[in-house]
Amino acid sequence: MSEVMNDTVIPLAYLFAAACFILALKWLSHPTTARRGVRVGEIGMAVAILSTLFKFEIVEYQWIAVALVLGAILGIPLGLVPMTAVPQRTALSHAFSALAAGVVGTAEYYLRKPDLDATTMIALGLEVVLGFLTFTGSLIAAGKLQGIVRDRPWIYRGQNIVNLAVFASALTMVGLLVADPGRAVLFPIIIAVSLVFGFMLVIRIGGADMPTVISLLNSYAGLSASMMGFVLDNRLLIIAGALDGSSGFVLSIIMCRAMNRSFTNVLFGGFGAEETVGAIEQRPVRTVDPEETAFLLDMARTVVIIPGYGMAAAQAQHKVRELTDALLRRGVDVKFAIHPVAGRMPGHMNVLLAEANVPYDLLYDLESINPELPQTDVVLVVGANDVVNPAARTDQHSPIYGMPILDADQAASVIVVKRSMRSGFAGVDNELFYLDKTQMLFGDAKAVIGQVVDELSKLPAKEVAGR
Ligand code: TAP
Repeated sequence: MSEVMNDTVIPLAYLFAAACFILALKWLSHPTTARRGVRVGEIGMAVAILSTLFKFEIVEYQWIAVALVLGAILGIPLGLVPMTAVPQRTALSHAFSALAAGVVGTAEYYLRKPDLDATTMIALGLEVVLGFLTFTGSLIAAGKLQGIVRDRPWIYRGQNIVNLAVFASALTMVGLLVADPGRAVLFPIIIAVSLVFGFMLVIRIGGADMPTVISLLNSYAGLSASMMGFVLDNRLLIIAGALDGSSGFVLSIIMCRAMNRSFTNVLFGGFGAEETVGAIEQRPVRTVDPEETAFLLDMARTVVIIPGYGMAAAQAQHKVRELTDALLRRGVDVKFAIHPVAGRMPGHMNVLLAEANVPYDLLYDLESINPELPQTDVVLVVGANDVVNPAARTDQHSPIYGMPILDADQAASVIVVKRSMRSGFAGVDNELFYLDKTQMLFGDAKAVIGQVVDELSKLPAKEVAGR
């Protein structure tokens, strides 16, 4: 019975789970199918865990039960964090999964060290190096996103060389262990060097580059799990880890392109090398109130709404939807411009707007909306800052220089909703706010957009063509 289980039922269950993971990735890549992607991924993971529990190599269940209970105690509150904290939660998940891979690799080494063949030792070495460096790297990333660790990059001369040397020394020691797995004294040093390298890799990353590094750490955690699959001879781990690793890798490349960053710099932690963040100047700006805003939006033919992190922080997406509906009813052409790294996680704005049932066909990506902005009457920036900062185009010394931005400054007029003149994630001032065409609508995004909606409802009815 247990043989049938091990040789037939479990491999079939693994095949089913692997198919679920592939479909999940495919469906997750589009907002209209993303929910289905999450469900099928959950089913795949449940099947993978349950079928593994029937493996005949398992002799006792009590420690597995303890681990499941502990995992649930940690996992349930982590799953309930608000949407704005999802990036740091994701970084913590990477940290835990990478730590698991590193610890399993360590246990396997000490259990099997005299009998490890070269191939297994290579996989085990990579698993441990990637696992432990991802652990500290992800903890630092989570700390920076949560504001516990200083957000500014930590940079010194020759840093790339030091980083490369540290990484190369870890790989050299793995090479020595491949030649002779019995050199057990090297193993704890490999772990220590990998932990230090993960710290050094991420501590230097600042501001706008954090999203790319999160997806790269995702990729490292996946690759580490895949290596663990080779060590444990578990095909599902190999497949799931490879899917995770490659999708994280592809996402990193897409984000590098979106932010005009060099991928090699990301791989070795060469971020923010030109960071020259200065104090935000106190200069006069033009302000506007909700009543005038309602009037200006109502007078416009075309309005482009640019949501950013502040919309997420304020949970203003439902009010933004109400505003959109009111403007559409009054014959105004409304579109949304979505920057690939607006907010704090990939697809953040898409998720929030979908939650508020904003029609997907009103959403435009950066390449398709930028050519339309010079013909746009009003751009309404809702809690966005870095993604509309013209310094990315004009100021070579800015840490965000080279990042493609939404060209809000090209529109006829701009209204910016935020609470103060504080900077965005990258910590730099924004020239857009000081332009003659720009008016600041200060306040919490949910509250002020709600007031604009109220003011719009007080305006006299309008004749709308085609109704
Ligand atoms: P940010 O540049 O972070 O600016 C957000 C603005 O929202 C702030 O200037 C803030 O100004 C305002 N704000 C905060 N709470 C608000 C509230 N309750 N009501 C109204 N406004 C509020 O956002 P962005 O333009 O979306 O750019 C995203 C940045 O995060 C980029 O630098 C990106 O690289 C980085 N990042 C992105 C990701 C991903 S994957 N999307 C992950 C990590 C980091 P006040 O404080 O004055 O209100």
